[in-house]
Amino acid sequence: MENLSPRAGELEAIETASRDEISALQLERTKWTLTHAYENSPFYNKRFDELGVHPSDLKTLSDITKFPFTTKKDLRDTYPFGMFAVPRERLARIHASSGTTGKPTVVGYTARDVDTWASLVARSIRASGGRAGDLVHIAYGYGLFTGGLGAHYGAEKLGCTVVPVSGGMTERQVALIQDFKPRVIMVTPSYMLSILDEFRRQGLDPRESSLAVGIFGAEPWTNAMREEIEHAFDMHAVDIYGLSEVMGPGVANECVESKDGLHIWEDHFYPEIIDPVTGAALPDGEIGELVLTTLTKEGLPIIRYRTRDLTRLLPGAARSMRRMEKVTGRSDDMMILRGVNVFPTQIEEQILKCRGLAPHFQIELTRSGRMDDMTVHVECTLEAADEAARSVSAGELAHHIKSVVGVSTKVTVHTPGGVARSEGKAKRIVDNRPKE
Ligand code: DLL
Repeated sequence: MENLSPRAGELEAIETASRDEISALQLERTKWTLTHAYENSPFYNKRFDELGVHPSDLKTLSDITKFPFTTKKDLRDTYPFGMFAVPRERLARIHASSGTTGKPTVVGYTARDVDTWASLVARSIRASGGRAGDLVHIAYGYGLFTGGLGAHYGAEKLGCTVVPVSGGMTERQVALIQDFKPRVIMVTPSYMLSILDEFRRQGLDPRESSLAVGIFGAEPWTNAMREEIEHAFDMHAVDIYGLSEVMGPGVANECVESKDGLHIWEDHFYPEIIDPVTGAALPDGEIGELVLTTLTKEGLPIIRYRTRDLTRLLPGAARSMRRMEKVTGRSDDMMILRGVNVFPTQIEEQILKCRGLAPHFQIELTRSGRMDDMTVHVECTLEAADEAARSVSAGELAHHIKSVVGVSTKVTVHTPGGVARSEGKAKRIVDNRPKE
């Protein structure tokens, strides 16, 4: 793998600013955001008045806890444009979540917001080891999802040559990688695994590909998965985090030289960690739900957005902005089996320990009587595909899950191709429990 670390002068001044400078900027920008939201978003105006808070109540950053949370439900209830803080005519772009249940959540960006977003994605790509002049293959979906266009504008802003492939048509993805020779790929980690399978299906050695850096996000993935991808492609695998309600990709990003948590771009977002049950603020270092406030967004300022993502805040490292640990999972994806909390990422880690198993998996939930049961559907590797080997792998995985995660599970080992593939975000949980 290429040895990648930033060269002198490549970081923006704010990336190495002192904590005091960052906090001072955050205070000034939080005041601006609260005032902007209160004066221009009828939703926030009403919310603040109901709670009896006013933007002038924020004297220090810790006063943020006086202000109300914003949730996905608030965006749904004000569908489509009810939370915007500028007239619709001033928006340059609309994105929306797919909305698996109910109405999608709609977000809007002014031209300045789009530009800020592009700058932050450019910073993220640079932190990942990408440089001006690189060819960047973008396999995040284009469209209402923020992944494709978010990555696209950032890569262009950095001065890269962008190949806007979008997701799907995996054979063509591989052909384009072979022919155009991108140095950087931006895609969900689960779809990268589908691309890996396709390399092998075509008899190509992925380690010989031109790819040096992969910027993976939009779904939880583990350090074990990082090792798997880095080894398979002989490339760096770096984590990018974001969500449409707050902006899109590029809210936080790891740096390639340390890969030990994602720097939150604190000049544009103020992070908090709260207890997901009580809503109480937790100190840095403790695991809880990430809450984000935008500091510069004009179109849709968001105050204390409850992401549902579980992580903890860590101090800065090579850069001074605080880091968030790799996301364990969404609180919505937490399964409770016989009183034990389980996340799909914990299952992923155990699968990657088993030599006879490929990293494609889905978790099926069923109910017998009053108890929930979990079946892990996973695939064998080509080398361990006979029935005897699959049975050994199933036993091995069930044992690891029982001894490390602490729950008993059924394991079904399918032949290669037997588990549904993702072309974007993987669907890890299939809930077949009877609806109440
Ligand atoms: O997934 C934005 C994005 C696109 C991020 C491309 C990174 C790369 P949404 O569709 O609104 O936006 O989904 C946001 O996805 O709350 C997390 O639960 C999850 N997520 C995003 N990035 C990561 C990550 C985009 N690096 C939701 N690790 C978030 C874990 C992630 N989960």
